[in-house]
Amino acid sequence: MRRYLIAGNWKMNTTREEGTELAKAIAAGSSNATATVDVLICPPFPYLIPINEAVAGTKVQVGAQNCHFEASGAFTGETSLEMLTDVGASSVILGHSERRHVFGETDADINQKVLKTLEKGLQAVLCVGELLEEEENGLTKTVLDRQMEGGLKDVSAEAMANVVIAYEPVWAIGTGKTATPEQAESAHDHLRKWLESRYSADVANATRILYGGSVKPNNAEDLLSQPNVDGALVGGASLTSENFLPIIEAGV
Ligand code: G3H
Repeated sequence: MRRYLIAGNWKMNTTREEGTELAKAIAAGSSNATATVDVLICPPFPYLIPINEAVAGTKVQVGAQNCHFEASGAFTGETSLEMLTDVGASSVILGHSERRHVFGETDADINQKVLKTLEKGLQAVLCVGELLEEEENGLTKTVLDRQMEGGLKDVSAEAMANVVIAYEPVWAIGTGKTATPEQAESAHDHLRKWLESRYSADVANATRILYGGSVKPNNAEDLLSQPNVDGALVGGASLTSENFLPIIEAGV
């Protein structure tokens, strides 16, 4: 059976002190839940070290929100996987809609990062999801297929053990407009079938598919109860322990 993964994407939020306190509160409040649910928090780059220290000795994992695929060199403003490993990150969020639509990342860019993340032994959380306009034009599945094909190009079946997919309909991110559990399930079911046809039933059954987009304490349980929803990628509600801990509990 797939273990739920509840991941918090803090985006460009918190001070060092706020982040450290939040991480400690999450670690303390989820100590029972982490027996059965994986918990991941992804703070901004500068706080990876203090946050990693804040959760040391607990089962809370720490991840990054992006990476560069080169190991080092003249890439101003970028962060390599070697650096992320060095500061204790175990996962990287890749292809988030803000990276795609604000920073112009293409499926090919994302694929390079996915391949390098897996090569370095980190978990890749590959985000996919359609824009509102695409959803309204009935293009959701077409967009998902394209993003899966592009993002997972040359990723082997063995390497898929370290891949998590996050379905995040762009129209539901930070808008308070959540996909209904049925909408989420339909997209997740499609993604799992894609994994089966591209890889195998075993890979499809083993790969976790998270839902992201306005997940809150009051909708988490309904979303997580869908058969193909294996966790959540949480933005706004991951910024307070009062909101994030009940979402983790919904996965227990
Ligand atoms: O990575 C997280 C998603 O962008 C969801 O953000 O929970 O604030 O809608 P949100």
